[in-house]
Amino acid sequence: MEFEFITVNESYAKHIALIQLNRPKELNALNLQLMLELKRAFQLLDDNDEVRCIVITGNDQAFAAGADIKQMENKSAIDLLKIDQFETWDQIRKTKKPIIAAVSGFALGGGCELVMTCDIIIASETAKFGQPEIKLGIMPGAGGTQRLTKAVGKALAMEMVLTGKFISAEEALASGLINKVVPIELYLEEAVKMAKEIAVQSPIAIRLAKESVLKAFDSSLQEGLYFERKNFYMCFASEDQKEGMKAFVEKRKPVFIGK
Ligand code: CAA
Repeated sequence: MEFEFITVNESYAKHIALIQLNRPKELNALNLQLMLELKRAFQLLDDNDEVRCIVITGNDQAFAAGADIKQMENKSAIDLLKIDQFETWDQIRKTKKPIIAAVSGFALGGGCELVMTCDIIIASETAKFGQPEIKLGIMPGAGGTQRLTKAVGKALAMEMVLTGKFISAEEALASGLINKVVPIELYLEEAVKMAKEIAVQSPIAIRLAKESVLKAFDSSLQEGLYFERKNFYMCFASEDQKEGMKAFVEKRKPVFIGK
């Protein structure tokens, strides 16, 4: 796969793909082309049966410092409406395979929103999360007011969105925004380690489980429970369910094939 602003390794480790944002001089600012490349990469990886988990990262200095301000500066509301860049973000959100963000340095604005679109977030001690759009005379537009509020609650979300303040990795962990904080030299390794734990499970059960957890965000409890139940039953249509339970009874490790 050939890309200009990202690199994609489909087989970084067994069943694990790695996407790296690659605009280091601009702190990985998310311009339109980068986002389209990202959408394409997620689609390709989602369609590749060999890939069971996707890790996305930036570099030590920045995961991403937000949408590209220079590209947006002179746009009108109608330009933005026509470009409809957030449709790209919606597509990423539809990725069926689990996505782990390995974050170091800045994850701001669209960068923080991209991180929050992922399923699991591992951060280095140096990571800084924030929605500083207010300082530009705008507000978050790619899910920041919604996903941040659901993750950290109204009090902290309001403070971050209205003042633009950054929070540290430790604060992000304490507020429930992220999963884990590790020393800077370990953030990618730790993310890949978690990806490996996921990649040995049944890809079908993983897909249905991810879908079910996400359903909790936009459904009533009753609707969510009903959805979960259907997906639970669906697991029993897979060979992996037979293998998983047989292996338990035979006291051995299961080998899941994704069927
Ligand atoms: N867009 C475009 N370029 C950016 C950028 C962005 N979001 N963030 C950083 N850059 C560029 C800088 O312009 C600079 O380029 P030049 O060398 O050509 O001047 C380069 O990256 C390095 O940045 P700094 O010199 O500013 O680095 P710093 O270490 O002094 O500061 C920073 C780092 C605090 C992250 C600062 O760059 C900053 O505040 N960036 C903007 C963060 C922001 O406001 N993000 C929200 C964007 S809007 C958005 O994301 C909307 C949405 O919801 C989708």
